[in-house]
Amino acid sequence: MERPEPELIRQSWRAVSRSPLEHGTVLFARLFALEPDLLPLFQYNCRQFSSPEGPGEDQSWQKGMRGEGIGNAAKGGSARLEGVQRGALERWLSLPAAGRPGLTPGLAHRLFALEPDLLPLFQYNCRQFSSPEDCLSSPEFLDHIRKVMLVIDAAVTNVEDLSSLEEYLAGLGRKHRAVGVKLSSFSTVGESLLYMLERCLGPAFTPATRAAWSQLYGAVVQAMSRGWSSE
Ligand code: HEM
Repeated sequence: MERPEPELIRQSWRAVSRSPLEHGTVLFARLFALEPDLLPLFQYNCRQFSSPEGPGEDQSWQKGMRGEGIGNAAKGGSARLEGVQRGALERWLSLPAAGRPGLTPGLAHRLFALEPDLLPLFQYNCRQFSSPEDCLSSPEFLDHIRKVMLVIDAAVTNVEDLSSLEEYLAGLGRKHRAVGVKLSSFSTVGESLLYMLERCLGPAFTPATRAAWSQLYGAVVQAMSRGWSSE
């Protein structure tokens, strides 16, 4: 991949970085318009359990399970369960994640005994957003916008030596896989970033500046994807 033109990147970022939250909000509003399925991935104030006893009598824990993570992770546990319990877990996993009923407590306890790493995937009392506007105005989500803009800012600062961010970005890719982000969604973020830059810069967003940003973001996604795809 060609190296992005540093001066075009720095110059254009100056205008954006004066009000990162405002422009980051434009980026994410566009992202949710392009890919509404990303909204449920943002959940805050989730309760997690510190021990298998946590769920106990409290059945509400069964409602807050996160989408695909639990399904893929529980398949490992399924291989180690025996007979009836194994069949029950496999039937449960074959249901769509969004509409699954809770696991029975007996099955859940056996599963946690075999696979303690599954425990943090069971979460409840998560705050879910009812609309993009609801999400875009929540303080927790605004923090995520700040974090994204800081990562982009770091990429701009290190535009001449992006390899220095390689490790960090790979770790970020891994974390995003764990919260259910698909690899293809990183490209939609890229489109939304270009949209935001165009809105902010107007005619100053020339084809050369656009090409420089596509290269820069492409390098960021490449590093994140490497982490996303690693075990
Ligand atoms: C595909 C769209 C994305 C989704 C659905 C997503 C989702 C999330 C979620 C759910 C978290 C954990 C909760 C939180 O900190 O708010 C998170 C953390 C984070 N995200 Fe994203 N994210 C996306 C894209 C990005 C991008 C493009 C970047 C940076 C280039 C980024 C940077 C971060 C950072 C720095 C954290 C904190 C990681 C940590 O705690 O170490 N995110 N993201």
